[in-house]
Amino acid sequence: MKEKLQQIKEAALLELKAADCDTEALRVRYLGKKGELTAVLRGMGALTPEERPVIGQMANEVRAEIEAALTARVAEEKEKALNDRLAREKLDVTMPGTPSRMGHQHPLTRAQREMEEIFIGMGFEIAEGPEVEYDYYNFKALNIPENHPARDTQDTFYITDNILLRSQTSPVQVRVMEKQSPPIRVISPGRVYRSDALDATHSPLFHQMEGLVVDKGITMSDLKGTLETFAKKMFGEETKIRFRPHHFPFTEPSAEVDVSCFVCGGKGCRVCKGEGWIEILGAGMVHPFVLENCGIDPEVYSGFAFGMGLERVTMTRYGIDDIRLFYENDERFLKQF
Ligand code: DAH
Repeated sequence: MKEKLQQIKEAALLELKAADCDTEALRVRYLGKKGELTAVLRGMGALTPEERPVIGQMANEVRAEIEAALTARVAEEKEKALNDRLAREKLDVTMPGTPSRMGHQHPLTRAQREMEEIFIGMGFEIAEGPEVEYDYYNFKALNIPENHPARDTQDTFYITDNILLRSQTSPVQVRVMEKQSPPIRVISPGRVYRSDALDATHSPLFHQMEGLVVDKGITMSDLKGTLETFAKKMFGEETKIRFRPHHFPFTEPSAEVDVSCFVCGGKGCRVCKGEGWIEILGAGMVHPFVLENCGIDPEVYSGFAFGMGLERVTMTRYGIDDIRLFYENDERFLKQF
């Protein structure tokens, strides 16, 4: 029996040294209830009373040695696994990090802010009005009665006969004049709608910025000076402006206003389509009927107004040739601003 115990010990210690030993399997095989050592101990009944304690003690020693070796091996494996992992997951704190991508303002928002700054610098305040508007503010109060042909060019989306999506920012003029008495100096940027099909120059949703000044003694030269200052700040000091006679029902006289092409300076190029000028807005002296509709006496007060397309100005400013680019959220486009 002694030899048997000796054999078990040697075999176990040898197996525990093997590179690929399975410690758990060895524990079961040598020390488990059905293990080899237990089998030997079961056979102790056949021993003489003198032999029993000797063999018993030896068996305990063998068990202790195998256990110690097993524990050591398990600890060794744990340490090795930890070291392997540490080596594998080594962190190089000197490596450059992954930059997180930051968004930025949309080109339209940027242009709008820039325009607001320019007008605020001239003493204007920002006024807001609803996008869902009454027919009265969008048309009637602006001297565009039912059946007026101007309604055709500004066909919009109707909620009811009486309520629509505003086709221009001009209704804000009326809302401001109803509430405020002169002097008035406001701009009003915002979304407008028209039932136009989407193409390179049209969109059913776009943006305008309205301007309105009402006070005693306001003349067309105030309008010209204001727009010239704006154009120079927005497009560069060399910029010139040009007024062309036009018709808007809510202004009299009315004009369309062009700026000299900031790319070619007026010689004619691709951006201005050979014209040398780019149309950016409509303007005029507020029609006396409109002042009257808002409770302002046209005998005492006069005013000017203008309305420009934000997309128009932004496209001109940055040389963008397709309005759809503003709404598609294509990063290749947006990243350029
Ligand atoms: N609301 C006009 C449009 O959408 C633009 C405009 C023209 C606004 C003349 C004005 C103005 O305030 O005076 O076509």
